[in-house]
Amino acid sequence: MAKDEQAPEFRAELKKHVVLVGLMGAGKSAIGRRVATAIDARFLDADTEIERAAGMKIPDIFETRGEAEFRDGERRVIARLLEKAPLVLATGGGAFIDDETRALLAEKATTIWMRADLDVLVRRCGRRSSRPLLKNGNPREILARLMESRYPIYAEADVEVFSRDEPHEVSVNAIIKHLKDRGDLIL
Ligand code: S3P
Repeated sequence: MAKDEQAPEFRAELKKHVVLVGLMGAGKSAIGRRVATAIDARFLDADTEIERAAGMKIPDIFETRGEAEFRDGERRVIARLLEKAPLVLATGGGAFIDDETRALLAEKATTIWMRADLDVLVRRCGRRSSRPLLKNGNPREILARLMESRYPIYAEADVEVFSRDEPHEVSVNAIIKHLKDRGDLIL
């Protein structure tokens, strides 16, 4: 293409927040970060922002302040992040289970449920032992119980993407296609 024929520079435009929800090990952060890069959007991880606000790591928040206080902080931090311009946000597994956060997300975001099989979750969580909910017992049993109680709630998300042991691009492309089809992303 000759220089004066060059196409004008297009920038992707995100109309709404894109928020990834789902159980620990579903790949919310890894996939969310890649989606953001692919569409030139900002990415934030709610757990990292909670740690930044509290000045301590999540296991330490659970240990010194307890889960209820962690959940209060999580609710406040997510509400604050949703005040920003549209971004891609990965949330901790319990965030969408909170009624207030779920209502706020229904209003302000397109929610993506990263769904995965138990075997995949157990394998991925096994690699990291930093998750307080998995410390007191058998991780497979705990994750199975959480699947039972939480999957009906995650099912309220706007979009469901199945997270298998496949290259990240498969989930990333599926999410981008959903966003385009919904009119949330203009490319
Ligand atoms: C939690 C999931 C964790 C973290 C905290 C509680 C949960 O985030 O927020 O340990 O309740 O499922 P990830 O889903 O990113 O591991």
